[in-house]
Amino acid sequence: MTNRFQRHTITAALPYANGPVHIGHLAGVYVPADIYVRYLRSKGEDVLFVCGSDEHGVPITIRAQKEGVSPQEVVDKYHAIIRDSFQQFGISFDVYSRTSAPVHHQTASEFFTNLHKKGVFEVKESEQYYDEQASQFLADRYIKGTCPNCGYNEAYGDQCERCGTSLSPSDLIDPRSMLSGAKPVLRTTTHWYLPLQDFEGWLRKWILEDHKEWKPNVYGQCKSWIDQGLQARAVTRDLDWGVPVPLPEAEGKVLYVWFDAPIGYISATKDWAERHGKDWRPYWQQEDTRLLHFIGKDNIVFHCIIFPAMLKAHGAYTLPENVPANEFLNLEGNKISTSRNWAVWLHEYLEAFTGKEDVLRYALTANAPETKDNDFTWKDFQAKNNNELVAILGNFVNRAMVLTHKYYEGKLPERGEIYSAEKEVLTQLSVLPGKVADALDNFRFREGLAAMMELARLGNKYLADTEPWKLIKENPERVKTIMNLSLQIAANLTIVAAPFLPHTAEKLRNMLQLPLLSWQEAGRDDLLPAGAQLNPAELLFQKIEDSVVEEQIQKLQNTKIANEAAAAPAGTLATPASEGAAEGTAAALAQAGNAPAAEVAPAKPEIVYDDFVKLDLRVGTVLSAEKMKKSKKLLKLLIDTGIDQRTILSGIAQHFEPEQLVGQQVMVLVNLAPRPMMGEESQGMVLLAEDASGKLVLVKPEAKVNNGSSIS
Ligand code: MF3
Ligand code: ZN
Repeated sequence: MTNRFQRHTITAALPYANGPVHIGHLAGVYVPADIYVRYLRSKGEDVLFVCGSDEHGVPITIRAQKEGVSPQEVVDKYHAIIRDSFQQFGISFDVYSRTSAPVHHQTASEFFTNLHKKGVFEVKESEQYYDEQASQFLADRYIKGTCPNCGYNEAYGDQCERCGTSLSPSDLIDPRSMLSGAKPVLRTTTHWYLPLQDFEGWLRKWILEDHKEWKPNVYGQCKSWIDQGLQARAVTRDLDWGVPVPLPEAEGKVLYVWFDAPIGYISATKDWAERHGKDWRPYWQQEDTRLLHFIGKDNIVFHCIIFPAMLKAHGAYTLPENVPANEFLNLEGNKISTSRNWAVWLHEYLEAFTGKEDVLRYALTANAPETKDNDFTWKDFQAKNNNELVAILGNFVNRAMVLTHKYYEGKLPERGEIYSAEKEVLTQLSVLPGKVADALDNFRFREGLAAMMELARLGNKYLADTEPWKLIKENPERVKTIMNLSLQIAANLTIVAAPFLPHTAEKLRNMLQLPLLSWQEAGRDDLLPAGAQLNPAELLFQKIEDSVVEEQIQKLQNTKIANEAAAAPAGTLATPASEGAAEGTAAALAQAGNAPAAEVAPAKPEIVYDDFVKLDLRVGTVLSAEKMKKSKKLLKLLIDTGIDQRTILSGIAQHFEPEQLVGQQVMVLVNLAPRPMMGEESQGMVLLAEDASGKLVLVKPEAKVNNGSSIS
């Protein structure tokens, strides 16, 4: 399928330079893209891997305003942080450019002019909110007011972050401008629109008929968009930060960030070509180029519908061959959120876990949100490191190296007679690299990683089964064979593990004194010649102790507490919806009928802090639990509250077996007035969380604390 192509242009979504990047970005976009690119390069393909910072758009101007600096200063700062993080994680871009670069302004400008001259755009007048004091039109995000749904008075013009409702500015009660506080007024303005409706028939055929092989999540979202009917989209904005619209009558207007950003892939290619004395054109303008976009799911419509329509309208460009978009990664059960600091930031990880870049790559790939949203937990991260990387891959390589040094002074012994164990190993060795390749060819990175680990497991098991350390006296010839074959497996791992774990593969190559071998060599059992001298053994991975991950968990816990304190005046309980909302992404998803917000209980009226402190909430431990004779619902619990031992009756009998509860720490409301129930007295209340389906779970402290610890 790929042989009609001569080269690959691989793009990874340009991250917004209004904040650092976190593990969600890495897992969803950059690690899979990098694995794929490294794999193609290893096969000897002509690949160009482009990325850069997305430096326009309203969120950047808002951040600049908040910090009292210019937008350029904001993007300069984050561009450098993001670029360095990617580099340290080994994301092997050929170029990491930026959309504030002159080459990008020029490219985006020309692109717009080209479509304008062809008469592609519709020009329309509309009413838009305007701040008369600041003499500026207001982006939806620049307008705040009271949410008509929940009454939250800090709702944005595009969305209420308390209840998650999508809004438009005219929905807000008492709207106010975030620039001056003035009441915005409606004014007429002119914008240029891309008439997506004109591309509907073409998109229907190009995606729904000709690209049935796209991932179901991507294909499904496209189909839903197309089936709902496409509408013209404004590609200009009244804003003073961005690529100026190159028309005299468009003074004070810039290109919409989602118009210019994907063109950034082209500008980045030009940037690369200029630096390396290459021609950028074949990578974009030839039919034999395979264009792939790696993105997260919130970017699907822009890469599958809008950008292709732009490319098609222009006419000189090739279209994406595939858009392997991923779903989202959550963190410890919650949606990653920049504004609530609920994230593991890459630059912080790199400080806390220096030298463990590959461990995160591994954990994120093993858990990649390929077909559904997935969760990252520190405990799982630790388990993947300790039970897989250390115990299997690291242990295998270390044993093979150490024994070879011990028995043969680090020189690879000759292979002798082959037994049935060796036959099996040889078969597996010849098969597994193909399994990895097959998975990667189909963008199934988790499966590819698992097949790579099978190879390590094969080696580990071979050594454990044959026990060369026991055979060395009675059958030294066999041990030569075992060590030779083990090291051939290790040599294969330098090839097969390299796309996933580039730093580790490099260490391993150094130990084995091997150059970078191409993918085609994988599966061979003679990558190392007999007599080859090995370097000293080095540990590839180290165990991660409980205390280390507990520190990270505690850090998140502190974030949670800080967020709750900050939200307390408004009594915010609901989870804010997607961060991507700033540029209409959440609205985009809503239109696509995708992922409706989870059902939550309606928000309650505001309370004051004094109301909250009346509650005496404490941690207690369940000492005993039993069913109540006459009740199906009630359990009788004896709880150590630190103050006393007391009986609490709780309506949870249909959700828990009594023995599940004994020994558990729980949250208890201790100053609730005692209540008689079924001939007993209940002295307080145990706190539980209930989801929309009615499922109950205990609310517990994240780490064990003394009974009686107060909760505030
Ligand atoms: N900055 C966007 C985001 O983070 C992605 C832009 S991708 C591009 O969601 F195509 F526009 F470059
Ligand atoms: Zn609301």
